[in-house]
Amino acid sequence: MTAAVLGVMGGSGVYDLPGLEDVHEERVASPWGEPSDALRIGRIGGTNVVFLARHGRGHRFSPSGINYRANIDAMKRMGVTDLVALSACGSFRDELPPGLFVLIDQFVDRTHGRASSFFGDGCVAHVSLAHPVGPGLQKRIGAAAAAEDIPVHRGGTYVCMEGPQFSSLAESRAYKAQGFDVIGMTNMPEAKLAREAEITYATIAMVTDYDCWHPGHDAVDVAAVVAVARANADKAARLVARLARDFPAEREPCPAGSHRALDGAIMTAPAA
Ligand code: ADE
Repeated sequence: MTAAVLGVMGGSGVYDLPGLEDVHEERVASPWGEPSDALRIGRIGGTNVVFLARHGRGHRFSPSGINYRANIDAMKRMGVTDLVALSACGSFRDELPPGLFVLIDQFVDRTHGRASSFFGDGCVAHVSLAHPVGPGLQKRIGAAAAAEDIPVHRGGTYVCMEGPQFSSLAESRAYKAQGFDVIGMTNMPEAKLAREAEITYATIAMVTDYDCWHPGHDAVDVAAVVAVARANADKAARLVARLARDFPAEREPCPAGSHRALDGAIMTAPAA
């Protein structure tokens, strides 16, 4: 049996994890390059927790400039089995207002030019991404939210744009018309790489704005994103702390197959 280690990837406005105890920092070397920051490694309750600020402390890396491979590789090297992504997002639905947390279950990748696989160049693999979020992990997040009285919306499709500019009105309307629920700039290729690393992944998308489609609201700007993200950071920390305290000691098999994603996925023949 594998011991469970909970990873937390902090997004915009989340550069630390209050509640993390016995913390030490490690700069993890990766053949993929430098992770965004030192990993903060500690415990919450009986669970080992590893925190990484995706943009780096001080928000130094833009969504296109983040070394997603190094970040996921560093998490894997620290033994992370389950990764929770905290991510600010814009909303395409009236019923998903700023301040609400959405438990994402699908992603659409509209990024381009990002290194999005550990494979290629001599070793080819195709993992399944039909269900990119671990349903068991998502259920645990939902239970932790209920225990903490934190309203969440269960289910939603996150479209990941390249950025760093926000969307035009035409793009925003098109995304809404396509049925996407929220928009962000970072969960792809993060979710893809987590799957290739056989790490179970789930996103808590923190709605910060209505992008620019909503006639009753101003178009998104950084001030709005930061203000709402800051106002909700404590709530996110409380949710993660409860999730960690109630986390099982051993890794649970993922119904979406995250824990064995590479079984049968590698197409390249072994060297003779
Ligand atoms: N992150 C937060 N709000 C966003 C938006 N409207 N578009 C893209 N990324 C975001």
